[in-house]
Amino acid sequence: MTANLTRKVYDERLRTLSEGSVNVNFNAFTDIKWDDPEFAVDTGDPRWVLTSADALGSHPWYREQPLETQIRIGIWRWAVIAKTGMQFENLLMRGALDYLVHVDNQDPEFRYLTHEITEETHHTQMFQELVNRTGVDTPGSRRWFRNVSRVLPLAGSLWPEVFFTGILAGEEPIDHLQKAALRSGEPVHPLPQRIMQIHIAEEARHISFAHEFLRLRVPGYGKVRRGVLSVFFPVIMRTLCDVIMIPDRRSAAEVGIPAWVIKDVFWKSEAGEKTLHELFSDVRMLAEEIGLMNKASRRVWKALRISGRPARFRGEPTPLAG
Ligand SMILES: [Fe+2]
Ligand SMILES: [Fe+2]
Repeated sequence: MTANLTRKVYDERLRTLSEGSVNVNFNAFTDIKWDDPEFAVDTGDPRWVLTSADALGSHPWYREQPLETQIRIGIWRWAVIAKTGMQFENLLMRGALDYLVHVDNQDPEFRYLTHEITEETHHTQMFQELVNRTGVDTPGSRRWFRNVSRVLPLAGSLWPEVFFTGILAGEEPIDHLQKAALRSGEPVHPLPQRIMQIHIAEEARHISFAHEFLRLRVPGYGKVRRGVLSVFFPVIMRTLCDVIMIPDRRSAAEVGIPAWVIKDVFWKSEAGEKTLHELFSDVRMLAEEIGLMNKASRRVWKALRISGRPARFRGEPTPLAG
């Protein structure tokens, strides 16, 4: 059904998403009680201990650490994810703005995407504010990614299908991680909890849009263009997933996490491997639907260790890391 998404249906969905942005939206400073004592970052607060939904949080090495160390690493982990998320969303905004320069008059993509950019502006503000409040001086993503991200937004207008694949590759792992943390039922500090609630609510629209964008275009591509994308698709997914999920070893060492633990968590251990498989179940479903799964591309998914069962529906809950 969705493989034959028409432009008319697509435009209607974009209008619905745009109305959603007007009706439900959040402000980084009025919707989060930054100065409420309950929201303060206190290094004695056990609610900073990572939940078992986080691949690092569920690792036996982490579980065996004294409470004080678990809290310290927990605060650091939130800060690194928030900073990396901020850099990723900054890249998204720049690419989307580049794409919008070339959008025709009357095209509902203009309105929808500017709503998305507005929302991402607030997300980057709340992520950076969280980093600032933790006092963790993290550079965020790895240096190579920060350097490459200078030119990546050009793909927004040059290869929009590749760009929006990249957007999805960043949004899906963060969304999975956040939903799993909230669903874990384990205590989470109210500050990241509030940020995650806001982010999940707005990100649902962004993920829907990226799916619809690819659904509209990809099935109509010629054999060559679709074939090339089918192979790049899992490569982009896995590369950006690693950028977002894996802290670099040097900064991990600074908070006392041994290199072997990072290696084990991402993604050598059984729990790590399971997480990696499950992160992309929604995306596998999309790839099947829009004709990006073929003999060659399946081999790439498998080699990158992100193959597996596609989700039956979007957002199907999957237990993460044990
Ligand atoms: Fe966001
Ligand atoms: Fe987003």
